[in-house]
Amino acid sequence: MTDPATLALDGKGFEYPVMSGTIGPDVIDIRKLYAQTGDFTYDPGFTSTASCRSALTYIDGDEGVLLHRGYAIGELAEQSSFMEVAYLLLRGELPTADELKTFSTTITRHTMVHEQLAAFFRGFRRDAHPMAIMCGVVGALSAFYHDSTDIHDPVQRTIASHRLIAKIPTIAAMAYKYSVGQPFLYPDNSLSYTGNFLRMTFGVPAEPYEVNPAVEKAMDRIFILHADHEQNASTSTVRLAGSSGANPFACIAAGIACLWGPAHGGANEAALNMLREIGTPERIPEYIARAKDKNDPFRLMGFGHRVYKNYDPRATVMQKTVREVFDALKVNDPLFETALRLEEIALNDEYFVEKKLFPNVDFYSGVILSAIGFPTSMFTVLFALARTVGWVAQWNEMITDPDQKIGRPRQLYTGPTQRPYVPVGQR
Ligand code: SDX
Repeated sequence: MTDPATLALDGKGFEYPVMSGTIGPDVIDIRKLYAQTGDFTYDPGFTSTASCRSALTYIDGDEGVLLHRGYAIGELAEQSSFMEVAYLLLRGELPTADELKTFSTTITRHTMVHEQLAAFFRGFRRDAHPMAIMCGVVGALSAFYHDSTDIHDPVQRTIASHRLIAKIPTIAAMAYKYSVGQPFLYPDNSLSYTGNFLRMTFGVPAEPYEVNPAVEKAMDRIFILHADHEQNASTSTVRLAGSSGANPFACIAAGIACLWGPAHGGANEAALNMLREIGTPERIPEYIARAKDKNDPFRLMGFGHRVYKNYDPRATVMQKTVREVFDALKVNDPLFETALRLEEIALNDEYFVEKKLFPNVDFYSGVILSAIGFPTSMFTVLFALARTVGWVAQWNEMITDPDQKIGRPRQLYTGPTQRPYVPVGQR
């Protein structure tokens, strides 16, 4: 047991217990600090704050380590499947072959959406950003699945979890189809989770669609890389929404909205747009200079991370996957060379080295997704599709955590002190 932390304040001494997890930093339990001192802590952006205890994902930012229930992301990406990782995150252990088959079949059987949900899409302009559609349609799911919104019923929590994981690819594919004016395709239960998504996205009713096994494998791996990532902004949003007792469909819609931001999940779309704007390696120095210029708001999208101060292990797998997809599809996007050159130049530049800015999961993903045929506007939708597994697992963990209560941070007030109202005629 670690000695308590002591705080000297206004000539008084206070002690706060230090809690240890299985690995990673200890935490100072300051739950009684305000009651005892009358002061709040101040931590905008939560750079030094643990919001919960969790057994799902561990990140060591200095070493570039990412574990899901103790299994390294590199091993899961190479040897596992997205459905198996979903089971692992939800249940805590790798499934047996029979358990995985049962789980996958259950998810498959929930992939269809209520037929009336299709009507929601027609309310959007065809040029609506697919993430706007995802926010709206996923939020609307609670209007169709009332029988799985009682968060205190474990059976309903399980059904809602399965429905969300199963229906998110169908809704994502529908968002894409609506944007290109093609008819929606129903799920095909004979296909894998990822194969089914590819067919619903790129297939048409007029002819059979053959899933390319290499693309299916690469897409499944990309889903694994995006499945969960500790208490990132969108996961924290899902947990905060869930802490009020909101139903799981509304919580996941809140997570989707947060993920959309370019500082978070929207970075994959922004990173590819940046690479397209840079165009050729000759223009890289101009953009490196802009990224370093304090007076220029431009940042290298897909670079830097709040936690990783080393190479994001997901970016390593992602870069390797680019080559596999290019070989499988016999394509070669010159933007990949530009990305590789940009990384090389940045990682040898004092600014990026000193600030420990490395490529993150979003830096290479756009090159792959573009090669597979997704428009840039769908990149964050794909991130949301995969992260729904993590959000659902984190939401379930939060709901069953005896420590959890409604999240309600305080503030450092900097507004006016009380003053009398002045009628408009006297102002
Ligand atoms: C994701 O949290 C997660 O786990 C997220 C995620 C997940 O799986 O859920 O990993 C997914 O969101 C990955 C991050 C994707 N975002 C981007 O690629 C956008 C570009 N990166 C940044 O904007 C930034 O790096 C953040 C938002 C990712 C992290 O920001 P922090 O931790 O708040 O750090 P900061 O903004 O305070 O930056 C520290 C310094 C600053 O310089 P100083 O003011 O100290 O002089 O580094 C600089 C920043 O200006 N900096 C960059 C930079 N990122 C940080 N400078 C140039 N280019 C960048 N990309």
